[in-house]
Amino acid sequence: MDTADLIVIGGGPAGYLAAQRAAEGGMQAVLFEEKNLGGVCLNEGCVPTKTLLNCAKIYHHAKCGQAFGVSAEHVELHIPQVIARKNKVVKTLVSGVAMTMKKNKVKVISQKAVIEKEVEDGFLVKSEEQEYKAKNILIASGSEAVIPNIPGTKESLEQGLAVTSREILDEETLPEKLTIIGAGVIGLEMATYFNTVGVEVTVVEMLDKVAGSMDVKLSKLLEKELKKKGIQFMLDTKVVELKGSSLVCEKNGEIINVEGDKILFCIGRRPVIQGLGLENIGVKVEKGIVTDEHLCTSVKGVYAAGDVNGKIMLAHTGYRESEVAVHHMLGIEDKMDYNVIPSVVYTFPEMASVGETLESAKEKGLEVKVAELPMMYSGRFVAENDKESGTCKLLLDTKTNCLAGAHLLGTYASELIWGLAALIGQKVTVDEIKKIVFPHPSVSEIVKETIFKL
Ligand code: NAI
Repeated sequence: MDTADLIVIGGGPAGYLAAQRAAEGGMQAVLFEEKNLGGVCLNEGCVPTKTLLNCAKIYHHAKCGQAFGVSAEHVELHIPQVIARKNKVVKTLVSGVAMTMKKNKVKVISQKAVIEKEVEDGFLVKSEEQEYKAKNILIASGSEAVIPNIPGTKESLEQGLAVTSREILDEETLPEKLTIIGAGVIGLEMATYFNTVGVEVTVVEMLDKVAGSMDVKLSKLLEKELKKKGIQFMLDTKVVELKGSSLVCEKNGEIINVEGDKILFCIGRRPVIQGLGLENIGVKVEKGIVTDEHLCTSVKGVYAAGDVNGKIMLAHTGYRESEVAVHHMLGIEDKMDYNVIPSVVYTFPEMASVGETLESAKEKGLEVKVAELPMMYSGRFVAENDKESGTCKLLLDTKTNCLAGAHLLGTYASELIWGLAALIGQKVTVDEIKKIVFPHPSVSEIVKETIFKL
C-alpha cells in the first residue's frame, strides 16, 4: 500500500486544481481520474462549447459583415472541421493539465477510486490495481446530465433522436429542426450555437422566463435578442411525452405538439455520488455531498469541492472551493463567499451577473438603489455593434454604500464581470469606485457611467 497526504477523486477543474495547490503547499497528492483529465469542463462542457460558439461567431461575421462594409460570397461552414478544431483545443488543454500534474509531482492514477474505510491515521482508497492511504480525501467527482422520467424518453435516447449536451458536441450532421428542452445556461448556449449555424431552434421551458435565477429584466431582454435572431421560445410549457424526435407539451392545460428532427435535453445536472464508497465512511449526502464554508464534509479529513456538493455548479466555483479546501488542510485561514461568484451565459449577446438581483435583495431584506444604462453609452460598443443592444444594471446597498449586485448584457460582459465581483467582494464604496480610471474607449466604461447614476 502507498501513502500520500491527499487523495483527490476526480480530475476536473476542482480536482486537478486541488492537487496542484496541495502540491504547491508541500503536500504529496494522488489524483484518481477514470476518464480524461479536465473532466466535463474541458472535455464536454465549457471549453468545447465555447470553441464551437467562437466558430459560429466567425461564420456569422463572415456572412453578415455588410453593415461594417465587409461582404463575402460563398461563405461556408464545415461542421467536421469545426468539430476537429474543438477536439484539437480540448486535446491541447487536457495535455496542459497533465503537464501541470507532472510538474507538481502529482501522481495521476487513471482508474476509478472507491473509498474503502477509515483507519486510525487516515483513509484507505482503492482502485483496480492500487491502494492508497492518506490523511485527507478531496472528493471532486462532478456532475452528470439529468435525464427526465418523461414517457418516451428511453426510446428516443436509444434511437439517437434525443441526446444530451455531451453527444451533440460530436454530431457532424446538423439537424434541420432542433428542439431544446430547458432554457437554462446550457439550453441557451446550445440554442445560440445551432441558431447561428443555420438550424431552426425551438426552446421549450416550463418556467415563465429564460436563464433561471438571473435578473428578470435582463433575462427578458436576452430572450428578445435571441428571438430577433430566430430562436423560438415556448415558455410556461411542460414536456409531457417524447414521440421519436417530436414532443408533446402542455401549456395552460392545452396540449401542443412540437415537431423536430432532434431533441436536446438541457434540464440540469446532478452530483455524481454513486459508487464512491461514501457509505463506507458515513459521508452525509443531501442534494449533493454536504459541505461547510471550508468544504469540510460530515467526516473530518474528507472534503468535497465542485459540482459534487451541488451548491453552484460552475467550474470557477470548483476552482475556488478546491483552494479553500486545501487552505483548510494546510491550516491557512480562508472560507467560501458564494455571493461573489459570477455567472456567465455565453449567448450572442453574452449575459453576466454577480451578487444580488432585485428579487434576491428583497428576499434578504436589503435596501437597494438601482441604476441602469443601455450599452449604447459606451463608444466602443456602438462602434462594434450594429443591431445588438445591451444593458448594465447595478445595485447599490444603501446601508453600506457598496455595490450589492451587477448584471450585464452585451459584448464582453463575460470579461467585465470579474471586476464587478472584485468590487463587491472587496466592499469598495461607490465614492471610491468613482475615482477608478477606466480605459477609453472600452465597453468597461459603461460600468463607470452607471456608477455615476447611483
Ligand atoms: P439549468 O438548471 O441551468 O436549467 C435547466 C432548465 O430546464 C430550467 O430552466 C428548468 O426549468 C428547465 N426544465 C427542467 N425540466 C423541464 C421540462 N420537463 N420541460 C421544460 N423545461 C424543463 O440546467 P442546465 O442548463 O442543464 O445547466 C446545468 C448546469 O451546468 C448548471 O448548473 C449551469 O450553471 C452549468 N453550466 C454553466 C455554464 C456557464 O457557466 N456558462 C455553461 C454550461 C453549464
